[in-house]
Amino acid sequence: MRSPSLLLLAILLGAAVSLQSAADTPELLGAEKTTRLRFFLHDTLSGKDPSAVLVARGEGRTPKPEDPVPFSSLYATDDLLTEGPEPGSKVVGNAQGLYISSGRGKLSLVLGMDFELTDGPFNGSAFVIYSRNTVVTHPVGRELAIVGGRGKFRMARGYALLRTHVLDNNNGDAIIEYNVTLHHH
Ligand SMILES: *[C@@H]1O[C@H](CO)[C@@H](O)[C@H](O)[C@H]1NC(C)=O
Ligand SMILES: *[C@@H]1O[C@H](CO)[C@@H](O)[C@H](O)[C@H]1NC(C)=O
Repeated sequence: MRSPSLLLLAILLGAAVSLQSAADTPELLGAEKTTRLRFFLHDTLSGKDPSAVLVARGEGRTPKPEDPVPFSSLYATDDLLTEGPEPGSKVVGNAQGLYISSGRGKLSLVLGMDFELTDGPFNGSAFVIYSRNTVVTHPVGRELAIVGGRGKFRMARGYALLRTHVLDNNNGDAIIEYNVTLHHH
């Protein structure tokens, strides 16, 4: 009966190890902090080097002047984040991921994007938004959920308040103000 007892020992050790790491977690994380960030996201669909590129779109969903991002359009993004709203403003990060046009009536997007900062005290850290973005219904003060983070934003949760600074209805180009509140460790 050697092997069953070895197996039992392995199981017991495994349990001990997982109990140990669970007990360590609060100490490793440290106290919770609150960080507020403000920046402008540039989502550029037009031109030779767009920051948002169409990946797929449902059959029969043709873009129209009044509806440049029809329901079902899926975009890949590498959008710049800048300090101010001007296109030449200092770059502070980028938002990589995707969004899908998910409103059948009014333009509404679901975003799944990783916002990495490339400047300042949080250089290299990132937070993640996975949320609905009610572009048309709430041009000002729409709220998106922050569901996680990396680096100094490990275990982040929080919210972002958005305001459309510019939206070109002809080509879909947009500059969006973000006010972010993050709780992290
Ligand atoms: C941000 O971090 C990267 C990688 O460590 C480094 O190359 C870059 O110089 C940093 N940028 C600033 C503005 O500190
Ligand atoms: C973001 O914060 C600034 C400064 O506090 C404020 O003027 C602006 O209206 C806020 N914007 C949004 C979308 O919450």
